[in-house]
Amino acid sequence: MVPILDEHSLDFISHSEAQTRRLGARLGELLQSGDVICLAGELGAGKTCLAQGIGQGLGIEGPITSPSFTLINEYRPEQARLPFYHIDLYRIEEAKETLSLGLEEYFYGEGACVVEWADRALQALPAEHLWIELRYIVETKRGLLMKALGKRYEQLLREFKRMAFGI
Ligand SMILES: Nc1ncnc2c1ncn2[C@@H]1O[C@H](COP(=O)(O)OP(=O)(O)OP(=O)(O)O)[C@@H](O)[C@H]1O
Ligand SMILES: [Mg+2]
Repeated sequence: MVPILDEHSLDFISHSEAQTRRLGARLGELLQSGDVICLAGELGAGKTCLAQGIGQGLGIEGPITSPSFTLINEYRPEQARLPFYHIDLYRIEEAKETLSLGLEEYFYGEGACVVEWADRALQALPAEHLWIELRYIVETKRGLLMKALGKRYEQLLREFKRMAFGI
């Protein structure tokens, strides 16, 4: 697993569901209030798996299920180091629908946000965020491409590279 990298990006392969979860947890441990992590990738690419790892890294102990029907699941600080907002835009019909969800409250709130299907609401996302694209390679392997947009996320990506890969 050799990451290809420049300052703003990281591209690597996860070889198992467990590894994706573990990498998510490493990332979750580094998150701060107001951080926004955007996930894109086809059905079954591993977005929820990564989001579950991130939640574990934030200290959530109970099960983390994808908020498919509710669109947003909120986990409060009694469970976690920070509030965790898990957003899934799969059921959004049109991009403009996202405006009525009041996502700003979460994006600019006290917690850390993970957004599945973030590509469905590009115009609603904060300009600065960590973008993660997951791609199916073979049954147990997924490619993860991370891109940092903005200073905070460049710093986060640097810390993640060090924590997850020792580079
Ligand atoms: N390396 C891997 N990383 C993540 N998941 C993997 C990996 N290898 C196999 N899988 C399997 O792929 C599936 C990923 O499902 P997951 O729900 O996380 O995808 P998703 O991108 O959230 O899909 P959806 O868009 O339907 O919500 C799981 O069944 C998981 O076991
Ligand atoms: Mg999902």
